Amino acid sequence: MTIPSEIAQTIIDPRAYADGKAVDEAFTWLRREAPLEQAQPEGFDRFWVVTRHADILEVERQNELFHNGDRSTVLTTIEADKKVREMMGGSPHLVRSLVQMDNPDHMAYRRLTQGSFVPQNLRPLEARIREIARGFIDRMAAQGDRCDFARDVAFLYPLHVIMEVIGVPESDEPRMLKLTQELFGSADPELSRSGGAAQTTDEGIDSIQSVVMDFMLYFNAITEDRRVSPRNDLASVIANGTVNGQPLGHLEAMSYYIIAATAGHDTTSSTTAGALWALAENPDQFAKVKTNPALIPGLIEESIRWVTPVKHFMRTATADAELAGKKIAKGDWMMLSYPSGNRDEAVFDDPFKFNVERTPNKHVAFGYGAHVCLGQHLARMEMRILWEELFARLESVELDGAPRNMAASFVCGPKSVPIRFKMH
Ligand code: HEM
Repeated sequence: MTIPSEIAQTIIDPRAYADGKAVDEAFTWLRREAPLEQAQPEGFDRFWVVTRHADILEVERQNELFHNGDRSTVLTTIEADKKVREMMGGSPHLVRSLVQMDNPDHMAYRRLTQGSFVPQNLRPLEARIREIARGFIDRMAAQGDRCDFARDVAFLYPLHVIMEVIGVPESDEPRMLKLTQELFGSADPELSRSGGAAQTTDEGIDSIQSVVMDFMLYFNAITEDRRVSPRNDLASVIANGTVNGQPLGHLEAMSYYIIAATAGHDTTSSTTAGALWALAENPDQFAKVKTNPALIPGLIEESIRWVTPVKHFMRTATADAELAGKKIAKGDWMMLSYPSGNRDEAVFDDPFKFNVERTPNKHVAFGYGAHVCLGQHLARMEMRILWEELFARLESVELDGAPRNMAASFVCGPKSVPIRFKMH
C-alpha cells in the first residue's frame, strides 16, 4: 500500500512539526496501521517511512546495507535534488560531513574527532562549562521574574559551550546563531534568510546554499589561522588533522566545522527549552526533580525523548533487503522517523506523558550504530550542569504566555518559551 496522501503530507510539513499534535497523530496512525510503508507526497520521489523503534534500530545497525551518502540524507523534493546535483557535479549533498559519508571514509573521518567527545576527555571541561552555566543563570535571575527561556538561556548556553570547544570567539556567536537558524529554519518565515518561507525550489536551495557559503567563508579564515598558529581547540584538530595520511579535503573540512557549529548547539538548545516548557506544564515533575536532584539524569533522557529535535534522517538501500516482512529494493530511500520511534507504544508506557522517572528510557533521539550522535556525551553533560545549577536556585516556574515551536521537518524545537519564575 501507499501511505494515504493526507498522512504523507503531514509528516513532511514543517508547520505540522510546529503544531506537534498533528505529527503525533499521523505517526500514531502509521505505527498502528502502516508501520513500514511507502509514501509519495506530490513532488517527492517514493520513500519508505520507518516508524517503529525496532525497525529504526534495525536499519541503523546495518550501515553497509543502508547507506547515508548515496542519496540526500534529508528529505528533498525531486526538483531540489536535481538542482543540488547540478550545482555539486552530480553529488546529492551540499556538504560532506560525517552524516553524508559511508565507510571507509566515515570511519576515518569520525576517528579524527571521536576522542575529543568521549566522557573522559570531556571531564576537564566540566568546571569551565559550570562557570558558563552559572553566568547564564545569574543573567536570568537579573531579569527579575520573567524571561523567554528559549531566547535568553537555552539558545545561548549550548552555543557558547560549543563555540569555545571549536575555538570561535564570543564576538562571532550571534553570527553563528543566526546562520544556524537560517539553515535549520529555512522553512520558517521568522527565521529563514529570505524573511519568508521560500516560494520556489530555486529560492529555497539558493538560500540554503548562501548560508553554507557564509559558513565556509568564515571557517576558511579560521583554518588558515589555525594552520599558522594551532591552539588547543577543535578548529586546530580539523585544520591540521590528517585522514589516511593526507590533510582533510576542503569540502570535508568545511563540512566538519559546519556540523559542529550547527548540530552542536541547536539540538541541545531545543531540548533544554522543551524541558523547561514541559516542567512548567507539569508541576508534579518539577517538584520531583526539585526535591530529588538525583532525578536530573532522568529529566535529561526524558526531555531528549520528549523533544526529539532531529526529526528524521534518510538512508538508501545498497541491495535488495527484507525489513519487518517488507521487500526493500536496492536504491530505495528510507525515512527514519525519530519522533515516531520515541512515541512507540511497544517500547514506552504511556508515551505521551512527560515522566522524569521513566526507566528504562531507550530513546532513539541520538540515532544508533555507526552514525550515533558524536556529541551525545557533551550534550548530556551540558544539560546536567545547567539543571544542577538551575534547580539549586529555581523555586517555581510557570508559563507566561503560549510557547511556540519552529516550523521545520528536519531539525527543530521551541523558538519561544515565555516563563514566570521565582529564584534565589
Ligand atoms: C549525529 C541528535 C547534540 C554532533 C546525530 C544524529 C542524531 C543526533 C539523531 C544522527 C545519528 C544517526 O544517524 O544515527 C542529537 C541530539 C542532540 C545532539 C538530540 C542534543 C540533545 C550534538 C552535539 C554535537 C553533535 C552537542 C557536537 C559536536 C553530531 C555529529 C553527528 C551527529 C558530528 C554526525 C555523526 C555521524 O554521522 O557519524 N546527532 N545531537 N550533536 N551529531 Fe548530534
